[in-house]
Amino acid sequence: MRSTCHLLTILALLILASQAFGAQAPTVFDFDREFYPYYPSLIKWNKSTAAFTPPETCRDCHPKQYKEWSGSVHNLAFHDPIYQGELNKAVKAVGHEISRQCEGCHSPAGMVTGEIKGPGISGLSPVASSGVSCDICHSISGVTHWQTPAHEPENGSMILTPGVDGKEGPTLIKRGPFKPADNCGGGFHDCAESTLHLRADLCASCHQVFHYDRHFPLEATYREWKSGAYAQNQILCQDCHMVDIQTFKKVADSFYKPLRSEYQHSFNGANYLLYYLAAAAANKAGNISEAAALKKKYEMAVERLKLAADLDIAPLYREGKLAEIKVTVKNLRAGHDLPTSLTNIRQMWLEISARDEKGNIVLQSGSIKADGALPENTRLFNSDGMGSNFHFAVDPWVVTSFSRHDTIPPKGSRIVYYGLPYNLATKNIALEVKLRYRQADQKVAESLLSAVPKDINLKEIYGLDTIPPLPVVDMVIKHATLPTEL
Ligand code: HEC
Ligand code: HEC
Ligand code: HEC
Ligand code: HEC
Ligand code: HEC
Repeated sequence: MRSTCHLLTILALLILASQAFGAQAPTVFDFDREFYPYYPSLIKWNKSTAAFTPPETCRDCHPKQYKEWSGSVHNLAFHDPIYQGELNKAVKAVGHEISRQCEGCHSPAGMVTGEIKGPGISGLSPVASSGVSCDICHSISGVTHWQTPAHEPENGSMILTPGVDGKEGPTLIKRGPFKPADNCGGGFHDCAESTLHLRADLCASCHQVFHYDRHFPLEATYREWKSGAYAQNQILCQDCHMVDIQTFKKVADSFYKPLRSEYQHSFNGANYLLYYLAAAAANKAGNISEAAALKKKYEMAVERLKLAADLDIAPLYREGKLAEIKVTVKNLRAGHDLPTSLTNIRQMWLEISARDEKGNIVLQSGSIKADGALPENTRLFNSDGMGSNFHFAVDPWVVTSFSRHDTIPPKGSRIVYYGLPYNLATKNIALEVKLRYRQADQKVAESLLSAVPKDINLKEIYGLDTIPPLPVVDMVIKHATLPTEL
């Protein structure tokens, strides 16, 4: 009798326990708010009285690095009007908390110190408004990539330690690639050798943007790189983005490892539109030398895009008649997918036209319409965002998966076939094929730029009355004349 009673008690306890566990069942994406106090940003700050240093102070002793970094996309990350527009929309749509996620990457020091309170650029200290500045990267003392909810780098999974407290007050510590030499830091800072700075993991924390709550990889540049040919050959982000264009080309073509003296701090990528806007602002402010430097960065980004890809054209005949055009698009030199990161915003597409001998169009696809949109049948290489209701979506707080994801992996290619009308009444056709690129769809860019916070006056800062058609870069143009009969 006693033992049955015991059994029943144990059974009841087991049921209760299983219910309790049921209620706290671990979710797919578990996170610890104590470990990540700035959630949804996964950044951590080893707080001490050692403050963050504005880049202008670093300039005094490191003028070369400052000059290269100044006007870079990292420098512009916080002032970027397209960013500020999207941030403003995000806060209005889902509340203030989300701005921590964004600012944890676009202005980490301004976020952790609590100085940045949301969208807007006025009244901030030089540290907060300088975006991804010297003292962000050189204070990164570690990463938490494998402890994150997604168990990979995401949403700023790094630890900032600008310095430590000692008996005589704070000591600044800057981390870099070298074994500290005597008097490293010139009395201003101590130095620490950091192998992290010689790995892609340094960049990974910010170059993987995941949905703030669902942890869906909206931008996955690090992951694309890691599973590609360059990672397999020890070629890092730094090897292509911290060198000049000629060195980058050599790195991409032959997996050449740059010499230490070849590294620099321009962090040039594909965002020519941002340099274009920043140059317009510098011109408007009468800062001619800054505008000229930004124009150089613009040209470098355009050049990089042009070097990234190539096109092959081949005719296909059926029963002796020209039936189809086969176009192969190759990712020649991007270390990750082409395009990468905001793949549901960036647009890379094929424009093709074929004319008969009289100059009449017999085939056309991908020509921008008068309203700036691309026609329905355009072959785009990017992704379509989808919300949790399975509808098309653009904004990063709505997109929880991709309904289409068609980017080209490193050293990979995509083939596109274009059918021609049957029995063309011409001996030859003249073909023009272009691989084109722009930062965003015209309407998307207009909606982001019109959403900027009040203290960004597009006319006063950039001289923009209306939003002009976005500049398009022709990455590759190929021509061919093809006989219609064999
Ligand atoms: C994990 C770091 C990270 C987080 C979090 C993050 N971003 Fe970004 N963001 C980036 C990086 C890196 C790029 C550059 C990618 C590129 O150039 O394609 C970028 C680019 C952008 C751009 C495009 C800018 C341009 O000039 O084309 C916008 C807009 C943007 N982010 C808005 C946001 C908003 C709004 C949030 C918060 C909801 C956010 N970001 C959160 C890292 C982050
Ligand atoms: C996005 C991260 C990042 C930012 C921002 C950044 N650095 Fe660096 N820095 C690096 C990396 C990575 C290296 C190592 C490069 C290499 O392999 O030599 C480096 C190297 C250095 C070095 C060692 C010498 C050299 O040039 O290789 C100094 C000094 C330096 N940085 C200073 C600065 C200053 C000053 C700024 C701001 C004007 C700055 N850094 C901004 C990542 C960054
Ligand atoms: C008073 C001058 C001075 C200032 C200000 C200064 N540095 Fe340095 N720093 C040095 C000297 C000297 C070295 C030794 C190597 C060299 O000459 O570049 C050095 C070395 C470095 C290194 C290489 C460390 C290594 O071990 O690889 C980094 C990174 C660095 N500084 C970053 C910064 C950053 C970031 C700032 C601003 C927050 C800054 N420095 C401000 C003088 C200075
Ligand atoms: C603290 C976060 C952070 C770190 C660390 C970081 N980045 Fe970035 N990076 C950004 C943000 C944010 C942007 C985009 C800003 C924008 O578009 O408004 C960006 C933009 C870029 C771009 C320009 C992209 C374009 O569209 O032109 C390149 C290239 C780049 N980063 C390379 C690197 C490399 C290489 C490293 C590592 C050495 C690195 N980043 C580390 C945050 C970071
Ligand atoms: C082999 C050279 C190479 C390597 C390695 C490489 N990249 Fe790139 N990257 C490029 C080229 C070329 C482009 C321009 C084409 C494009 O947008 O993909 C680019 C573009 C970018 C952009 C701009 C995307 C945009 O939408 O404007 C970012 C951000 C970026 N790279 C970050 C990284 C990071 C982070 C790594 C390391 C994980 C890395 N890259 C490794 C060559 C490289």
